[in-house]
Amino acid sequence: MRASLLVTLALLGFAASVSYDGYKVYKVVPKTEVENQYLKAMQLSKDFDFWSKINKVGNPVVVMVSPKAQSKFEEYLKISKIEYNVQIENVESTIQAEREYHRAKQAQKTGLKISFDQYYRHAEINAYLEQLAKDYPDVVTLENFGQSYQKRQMNLVRISSGPRNPPKPIIFIDAGIHAREWIAPAVALYIINQLVENPENSNLIQDVDWIILPSLNPDGYEYSWDEDRMWRKTVSPGTICDGCDPNRNFGFHWMEAGASSWECSETYAGKQAFSEVETRHLRDYLNKTANIKAYLTLHSYGQYLLYPWGYSDALCDNWRELDALGNQVNDAIAAVSGTTYTVGSSTHVLYAAAGASDDWAMGGAGIDIVYTIELPGGGWYGFDLPASRILPVCIETFEGFKVYADYVAKNRK
Ligand code: ARG
Ligand code: ZN
Repeated sequence: MRASLLVTLALLGFAASVSYDGYKVYKVVPKTEVENQYLKAMQLSKDFDFWSKINKVGNPVVVMVSPKAQSKFEEYLKISKIEYNVQIENVESTIQAEREYHRAKQAQKTGLKISFDQYYRHAEINAYLEQLAKDYPDVVTLENFGQSYQKRQMNLVRISSGPRNPPKPIIFIDAGIHAREWIAPAVALYIINQLVENPENSNLIQDVDWIILPSLNPDGYEYSWDEDRMWRKTVSPGTICDGCDPNRNFGFHWMEAGASSWECSETYAGKQAFSEVETRHLRDYLNKTANIKAYLTLHSYGQYLLYPWGYSDALCDNWRELDALGNQVNDAIAAVSGTTYTVGSSTHVLYAAAGASDDWAMGGAGIDIVYTIELPGGGWYGFDLPASRILPVCIETFEGFKVYADYVAKNRK
């Protein structure tokens, strides 16, 4: 979200928070290369907030537009005969509906430890991890990952059925690097929940260990609850605009493509590589931990299984292996209720963007099974996947994680 667009309101004496009243979300489908070029020119305007990147012809592009810029936006599209429709009439109403849902949920909380019909605050995520470590001391170890910029405690869990000689291969999963992508931490929690609390899955922890970090950008995540639902970045202060895109901040071909040196950009790469404490924690953790064989990072949205590289259109050495495995994961997910993912290298199927955690995990930490998983959002909802969709998405996605576990157990033992 660009700072220049932000309208802050002090509502009834509560903390000021950003309002998206009257903001519309459009879905635009470029049909020709010329239309694509036209959209690229429009992207330069500060008034149009492109939620998705402009990719290949035929791929829908989602744009949020403030009330004052809507007539200009529609006019541009009409002149160039580009087809569009309105996906969300009023972004603020959808955000308010989500808030209301969680207020009601909060009020009726039972003794249940966790459920998958709501999103959780960072403190609640921590509380769940602590509870699990207490309840299942033989399987779950809680580890201090470090503190965020605003000194929030970041924890991860190690899940293991016990040591083995030689040591078991480890699958490392993180989520929440982008604040507004709420479904990502939710899926990470579900994986933890299923591996630990569902005895039917005990086979999944026999031959692999899991390290799961559900909330990699807690300051941004909390900010997306309290202040700006569309916040993506960290919150470290800048001169004009705050925050840096942590997924452009890793020190591997940093700033070479698809990243900005402009502080207010959504893809601002930071003053230098690893300027953010959260990305430094991840770098240090992956560097010091032996035997991590797979790195999986959860994002939303778009239904992509992306493997390196993302800094250029070069392919990583084992891309054929990753492509085949990605397709198996996709098949397993699709078998549940038809959700399909696009499998390919970040640059080939999405766009080039350097400094992301996936490229660093491979190029920096030397892990060779690496994917960015873009979970479903949905044309209508984008990052606001309704709470009623959490469980179905978790269930189908978990089938994909079974495939990863099986593959790593067999091929990286
Ligand atoms: N949506 C993600 C982002 O923009 C995709 C990252 C894919 N990986 C990459 N190295 N480009 O950060
Ligand atoms: Zn993301």
